[in-house]
Amino acid sequence: MTTNGFTVAIDGPAASGKGTISKAVAAHFGFAHLDTGLLYRAVGAKVLLGVDAVAAASGLVPDDLDGDALRTPEIAQEASKVAALPDVRAALVDFQRSFAARAGGAVLDGRDIGTVICPGAQVKLFVIADAKVRARRRFAELSGKGIETTFDAVLADVQARDARDMGRADAPLRPAEDAVQIDTSDMKIADAVAAAVALIEAKRAGPS
Ligand code: DC
Repeated sequence: MTTNGFTVAIDGPAASGKGTISKAVAAHFGFAHLDTGLLYRAVGAKVLLGVDAVAAASGLVPDDLDGDALRTPEIAQEASKVAALPDVRAALVDFQRSFAARAGGAVLDGRDIGTVICPGAQVKLFVIADAKVRARRRFAELSGKGIETTFDAVLADVQARDARDMGRADAPLRPAEDAVQIDTSDMKIADAVAAAVALIEAKRAGPS
């Protein structure tokens, strides 16, 4: 389960800032980046079209992972539901582990990367933020894209997903014992990225 390359595992709840940090860190170090939430969103989108969840997970292809089309509130909720199915999670493990092991280094962000997918990752971050702060961010993002919603609806969505993602029996959202926590509630994004970069640089330089 250890990886060949250098793996950075970044987990955390919805809109905690983990995606932004992951992208920035990957660009900084020249690592490949996989947003694993897109896998579950792609499965959720297919289920909304009537496809069986396990069949959808087993048959995913790169063209299914169109980030923009998958970032709707409906697909987010469905993703969180299919993500509680052990057979769906099992079907997605190999792809994620192969991605993590690529030679040039990889950043994977999600819910169970440090605990289940890459327990041997060289760096594990757990990114959190207050639920209202996260809902404000997600509301701004959705409004910016012209998706009509309200702050209260977004907060309810965030809280429902938190409860489902943390409460499921298989691979629940929780920090790995050796994860470093970053609370972005009152942090500028540049500072959160700088903190992550510093942690990774220290790990790359020193004995692990
Ligand atoms: O990161 P995101 O909001 O795009 O993820 C959508 C849903 O997918 C999330 O509510 C739970 C699920 N998910 C998961 O269970 N495990 C992951 N590694 C990534 C996402």
